[in-house]
Amino acid sequence: MALDLTPEQKATGKANFEQAAGDLARAGKMNTMAVGGSPVDPQKPDRRDFIKVGLAAGAVVPVSAAVYYGYQSWKGNKAVRTALIGTGDEGGVLIGDHNPEFNEFVAVCDVRPSNLDRIFDGEPAGPRKGLNKIYGKDTAKKIERYDDVEKLLADKSKLGLEAVVIATPLNTHDVIAKKCMDAGLHVLCEKLMARTIGKCKSMTQYAKEKGLLLSVGHQRHYSTLYAQALEVINAGVLGDIKHIRAQWPRNNSFLFSATEAEKAKFAPGFDLPYYRDGWCKPILKQDADALPPEKLAQLAFGDVNQYGFKDVKELVRWRLYDKTGGGLMAELGSHQLDASSIILGHVHPLAVSGIGGKFFYGPGRNDRESDDGVWVTYEFPGPKHPKAGKGGTDESDIVIVTYSSFNTNSFEDYGECVMGSRGTMILSKEAEVYLYKEPEPGKKDSGGRDTKVTVGTGGKGPAMESTSTWGGGGGAAISKAPGASAWDSAVRGYRTEMEHFAYCLRRWQELKQPVSYEKDKDGHLKHADIIPRCHGEVAMADAILALTGNMAMDKKERIVFEENWFKTESPEVPETKHASKKA
Ligand SMILES: NC(=O)c1ccc[n+]([C@@H]2O[C@H](COP(=O)([O-])OP(=O)(O)OC[C@H]3O[C@@H](n4cnc5c(N)ncnc54)[C@H](O)[C@@H]3O)[C@@H](O)[C@H]2O)c1
Repeated sequence: MALDLTPEQKATGKANFEQAAGDLARAGKMNTMAVGGSPVDPQKPDRRDFIKVGLAAGAVVPVSAAVYYGYQSWKGNKAVRTALIGTGDEGGVLIGDHNPEFNEFVAVCDVRPSNLDRIFDGEPAGPRKGLNKIYGKDTAKKIERYDDVEKLLADKSKLGLEAVVIATPLNTHDVIAKKCMDAGLHVLCEKLMARTIGKCKSMTQYAKEKGLLLSVGHQRHYSTLYAQALEVINAGVLGDIKHIRAQWPRNNSFLFSATEAEKAKFAPGFDLPYYRDGWCKPILKQDADALPPEKLAQLAFGDVNQYGFKDVKELVRWRLYDKTGGGLMAELGSHQLDASSIILGHVHPLAVSGIGGKFFYGPGRNDRESDDGVWVTYEFPGPKHPKAGKGGTDESDIVIVTYSSFNTNSFEDYGECVMGSRGTMILSKEAEVYLYKEPEPGKKDSGGRDTKVTVGTGGKGPAMESTSTWGGGGGAAISKAPGASAWDSAVRGYRTEMEHFAYCLRRWQELKQPVSYEKDKDGHLKHADIIPRCHGEVAMADAILALTGNMAMDKKERIVFEENWFKTESPEVPETKHASKKA
């Protein structure tokens, strides 16, 4: 993420973050950490578990995701009988990361036969382990396969189905989610929530009216690493944050190639991808044979224009087209704008402008409609701005968040760089956090990339101090288990989001009442502890950020956000005034 950090500087940044978290935890300022030797807090009895295992005085370790997100009492509950709808790339990741003690997958549904096979078989390496491996072949055989959502829902009672996880293309989210809610099922739907904000509003409204859980898969809401980073930021050690730089660079500019054996599996009659581009995949014969256009039209939920795929190519390459996908902003930007808005305290943005286009691929090389490069600038209110809701009056207190994603260069890693007047925090690839102190004028070795820091909590509040002496184990043990891959479940948040969803469902059943999204007089959810953290309204705010960014780029306008767009009950949506083919 930072242009030129050496391995040593990365090690320093990582240790600085662990040291800061440890120092703040010992000062009682971290909820994500347990401290050895401290008296047991009767309000947080869960911390006993950690202290019992004999943490040395002053040692700090993270509390488990279950403890932090409040579902450590799960034991004894029956796993939620769940179906997966959409068994493609992300469906495979979710299956690979789910915990069968919380979600028992009893059925899978997809229109593509190749993906229905893959969800059982998994992949030789990587996160998509497959149902056969997770449940064992004999048990996995009992998991029912469906090629149509209607048929799955018709078998709801036979399957004893309670919930669905939806991982289908963006244009189908709202209609599939509503069908499932009509059948009385709780829904965890992948991000982006829906293709338009109007559709997001109606999904949220639907869940409220039906008294069902609706969770949306922005996994950073369940990442313990982001939670720890946020606590360190909220302690104030970065000073005044005026800029967040977020980015997701990729290089999809190399020519596509395939072996003869692979080519034999491709359907004739469809072009081969020109570039190696995960969004522009080859079309398999197996899928093309099973899905002629007439069959796809039947699966379009009655509205071929909105939910239909013209042909199997549009189904497989849905991210390339405006009707079916939301481009780089929906697929990648939404995650990092989500992270930025979490870091800034969930405030709503003030305005967005940007530039994007098909700058590289061009005619004849790739028939995509979606942009291959975007650069967007969001203006957010700082804490003293009137729109931050903290009683401030300073209209000049603005935080600039820039987001970029280009398909032609992968030199830098993806991540978010949070820049404050006293320090910088880099969140890299959802897996690492680096922390650095700003140098002080005239003071040698007082900051920079090679400087080790501790956090002092006296004086006016927590602040970074340079030191030459750490390294003796005073930090928190927040790195992943030795040898753990970047797919560490608790860090990425996929597993936790599914576990918490199951926990919320069982808690509402214990209360013997439909799910309530009622708010108190301050506008906070009354039952926030048993509502998914990324519920409809939260996810809609992420969709507004991403899709309004698309509109701003398409129309070459600076768009000012309106408060009513973020209110589910208001009919006002950005697409009314700023209608664009990109949103
Ligand atoms: N949270 C994350 O980090 C993350 C990462 C990747 C993708 N996603 C999201 O997950 C969703 C799926 O993405 P993907 O990469 O798996 O796409 P994909 O194309 O690999 O898989 C989608 C699957 O849905 C199936 N499908 C389409 N219409 C269907 C219908 N009507 N009924 C049943 N199945 C249907 C397709 O045949 C395909 O197998 C998208 O919304 C995407 O944005 C989230």
